[in-house]
Amino acid sequence: MDILIRSTPAEVATAAADIFVRYANAGATLGLATGSTPVALYQELTSRCERGEVSFARSRAFLLDEYVGLDRFHEQSYYSTIRRVFTSHVDFIDELVQSPEGDAANPDRAAAAYDQAIRHAGGIDIQLLGIGGNGHIGFNEPSSSLQSRTRLETLHPRTVQDNARFFENTDSVPRYALTQGLGTISEARHLLLLATGTEKSTAVRNMVEGPLSAHCPASVLQLHPRATVILDEDAASQLEDLEYYRFVDEHRPH
Ligand code: PGA
Repeated sequence: MDILIRSTPAEVATAAADIFVRYANAGATLGLATGSTPVALYQELTSRCERGEVSFARSRAFLLDEYVGLDRFHEQSYYSTIRRVFTSHVDFIDELVQSPEGDAANPDRAAAAYDQAIRHAGGIDIQLLGIGGNGHIGFNEPSSSLQSRTRLETLHPRTVQDNARFFENTDSVPRYALTQGLGTISEARHLLLLATGTEKSTAVRNMVEGPLSAHCPASVLQLHPRATVILDEDAASQLEDLEYYRFVDEHRPH
């Protein structure tokens, strides 16, 4: 795991953008994430696109997950969210921004079709990830198989609580989602996880230094040959080997 620690969330976004633009400019297949954490990265990428430093015109994108039961045009569906916060502001071809079909009549079939679509596209070159306070990635909640595929998942009460801020009240938060599985996510060639804020520090410690465990789904990154984790000081604050990670980052052999 490559661990980069930056002073502020803005510096986390800059460091992530430096990596992301190389993929976009090469026409790579990008895995996108919703949630609050990547918003600063999307703003940075939008600014760089306006300055002509990056283009998404040759890329396609797959989202990590989608609520089940929300119409895709509901403002909190991830289909709508990713367009509102990012892809509509840059030169992405809209039809090439795909997400699991959360409003499908048959969610199991939609989940299998999503894995198939990713495979048909040649796989994801770089998958952006956030981390939940309970260690989830995508909507893979604790107890998710480390080899799981895209599937219907029941949201953890903590996730429902965390996401209630986007809805009128807790009761309006969907209880189910379609999420890329941990096995699906692990097939991306490069994983890029961003975390900011002290409320993520326990999950980050469990991911980086805890055992490989379905109880902390993000710990599956320990198995990935190319995982980059970019943290701000607050999110990194519980890491036991923090000074070593800083040394590695500041004294790269190449
Ligand atoms: P957040 O969500 O970026 O809104 O904190 C991350 C996640 O739950 O995966």
